[in-house]
Amino acid sequence: MTQTSFQILEWRPQLLEEAAIENDITMLAGILQAVVYGGAGVSFFIPFSVDDARAFWTGNVLAAVRAGTRRVLVARQSGRIVGTVQMNLAVPPNQQHRADVAKLLVHPDVRRQGIARALMLAIEQVAREEGRSLLTLDTVSRSSAESLYLQLGYVAAGVIPRYARGSLTPDLEDTTVMYKELAP
Ligand SMILES: CC(C)(COP(=O)(O)OP(=O)(O)OC[C@H]1O[C@@H](n2cnc3c(N)ncnc32)[C@H](O)[C@@H]1OP(=O)(O)O)[C@@H](O)C(=O)NCCC(=O)NCCS
Repeated sequence: MTQTSFQILEWRPQLLEEAAIENDITMLAGILQAVVYGGAGVSFFIPFSVDDARAFWTGNVLAAVRAGTRRVLVARQSGRIVGTVQMNLAVPPNQQHRADVAKLLVHPDVRRQGIARALMLAIEQVAREEGRSLLTLDTVSRSSAESLYLQLGYVAAGVIPRYARGSLTPDLEDTTVMYKELAP
């Protein structure tokens, strides 16, 4: 695909008509399904239908965004959603300075254009707005995502061996737990 510019925006379903939400969820579900079939460790494994993917976005993410416990960013290229990341703000009372980053997903057609990096820098800004100074995440060890997080200054706290099954095979994969303390 020809490289085109992209925009990073917050996904705000509360400002959208129902049809626009449906349209966005179709694009987000398409990305999630493509990523799962691409072999990445993002909670799911094959077979993974579009309906399975839609159920995640509708039942889990949309509900949390509406409840105010999740913030979601999307990358758009010519209106099409091509990437996303989210921040879970629902942490225990004694960890209100922390948030979890999850589901950094970029469509396989548009990789290596800096979209994931831009999404991660933007989610750090969201964390600052929310008064969160510690970001935590986990990722499949030795994955491209782990390289990206290390480049962005995340610290590997440790590796949990055989943490989750792969998306394409039942083999268990190691996970690296990472964190970043944000400068104010
Ligand atoms: C990981 C992922 C989000 C990267 O998205 P992307 O938009 O292609 O990443 P960027 O273009 O912003 O890459 C930034 C840097 O990350 C590193 N990186 C990204 N993809 C890489 C790869 N396949 N191999 C090695 N390094 C990689 C590189 O250092 C890259 O910088 P460079 O292109 O200047 O060398 C994307 O491959 C993806 O969606 N993977 C599947 C889902 C996943 O694993 N998500 C993480 C869940 S924790």
